[in-house]
Amino acid sequence: MTKPSPRELDHPPFAFVLFGGTGDLAMRKILPALYAAHRDGLLAPDGRIVSVAQTALDTGSYLRWVDEHVKPHIPGTAIDDSVWRSFRERIAYVALDASQPEAFFSLGDTLGAGHGRRIFYLATGPALFVPICRALASAGLTEGSRVVLEKPLGYDLESSNAINDAVGQIFKEDQIYRIDHYLGKEAVQNLLALRFGNSLFEPLWRREWVESIQITVAEELGVEGRGNFYDQTGALRDMVQNHLLQLLSIIAMEPPQSMDADAVRDEKLRVLRALKPVLGEEIRQSVVRGQYHAGAIKDTTVSAYHAEPGVRQGSTTETFVALKVEVENWRWAGVPFFLRTGKRLAGRIAEIVVNFKPVPHSALGAMALRPGSNRLTIRLQPNESIRLSALAKQPGMGMTLQGVHLDLAFDQFFQQGRMEAYQRLLLDVIAGRLALFVRRDEQEAAWRWVAPIIEDWATQGNLPKPYASGTWGPAAASALLARHNTCWQEEEN
Ligand code: BG6
Repeated sequence: MTKPSPRELDHPPFAFVLFGGTGDLAMRKILPALYAAHRDGLLAPDGRIVSVAQTALDTGSYLRWVDEHVKPHIPGTAIDDSVWRSFRERIAYVALDASQPEAFFSLGDTLGAGHGRRIFYLATGPALFVPICRALASAGLTEGSRVVLEKPLGYDLESSNAINDAVGQIFKEDQIYRIDHYLGKEAVQNLLALRFGNSLFEPLWRREWVESIQITVAEELGVEGRGNFYDQTGALRDMVQNHLLQLLSIIAMEPPQSMDADAVRDEKLRVLRALKPVLGEEIRQSVVRGQYHAGAIKDTTVSAYHAEPGVRQGSTTETFVALKVEVENWRWAGVPFFLRTGKRLAGRIAEIVVNFKPVPHSALGAMALRPGSNRLTIRLQPNESIRLSALAKQPGMGMTLQGVHLDLAFDQFFQQGRMEAYQRLLLDVIAGRLALFVRRDEQEAAWRWVAPIIEDWATQGNLPKPYASGTWGPAAASALLARHNTCWQEEEN
């Protein structure tokens, strides 16, 4: 066997099989990300993309569809026609009914031998994950392949376990790439750099010095044509079970021994397993559910969740969740983590706020004793930045303290462009790097933690509280923090 060249190691050959090839995710995220990787010279020259979907199309018609539906989602500079043409040459289309296992033999014929590692990307609903994996196995296509599972992986602990069990009989854990695209965001990886590349924060990163932590992922968008899906899902399953708990685990984890996939994932898992269960009456105290009503986002009137296409009449699905979480371990015992996410909120912001305790005694007046005057705000999007808030003396006579900020805007500091989350993650799948993918036990721990909340909402009639679009959610979310003598960052002054 000839040894792979360094270039092949960097950009290994692959056959990328995209199930759900005509779907929204393929058009908006996956194909644009593959295009960007192609444009940036990060794909092996003979890497192929085989899009698979049920619609009867030939490759030519599919490519015309791709021209129309993918190009608008490619971020950055104008598309170079010749680069686009060479990207199209990588793509073939196979019409296939995923519920018909016989059809997978012809997929095998299309893939043929060689062409490097096979990657099966399942950008379909979770109901198709198991049938597709089984059909791939019976067509003899799974040996040495990788499978990528999009979220949502199941609907609750039981259904996600059922999928993981069935997929696990076909693929080994190190062949399975569970996507949480938040882990591919530059800013999220920067959290690791910030925490584990600097000695500055580590001594303070613990219960002795941290008063509370806020994690907000706020969206201005509504359900954007996904009413049908979203109405079955809601914010807890769509955002908290995965993205927010992943962020929390990175913020709270112990330093990993190395950046190896399992070293990092072991530490995240420990945090997820240390989450204090929220049960019974505590759910009503610590979890706020909301649903948006009509309102205005930046002067544009938007309609209520109820009026969105695909949403059931009288739906009680939540579009907002705020909750208090505790991590029961030596480092974090007693420190509240406040998590919040919602659609149709006042801004699109993802940020983490670490509030440090005030000084124990102030010779400088009451200002120094105010909570929140020492704080680290890590803005993940938009405009990734870090702000360190401290107190300084106002110039002039006397000793009057005032809040000041040290700001670091990453896009000003680093001139090079940022890689989109999907691009990075797809390149990782192709190269076989698992660190930024969710391991089964992490996913299970996250589902296990949200399960009692899901159960309570389903059985106890805990209806979502209304909030006007364009606000920061229901008043109860503010009251939750007020009970802990704090407030959301934007509520200060
Ligand atoms: C997805 C959710 O996982 O994340 C969507 O399904 C949500 O509802 C999206 O809008 C948010 O991602 P981002 O990268 O825009 O913050």
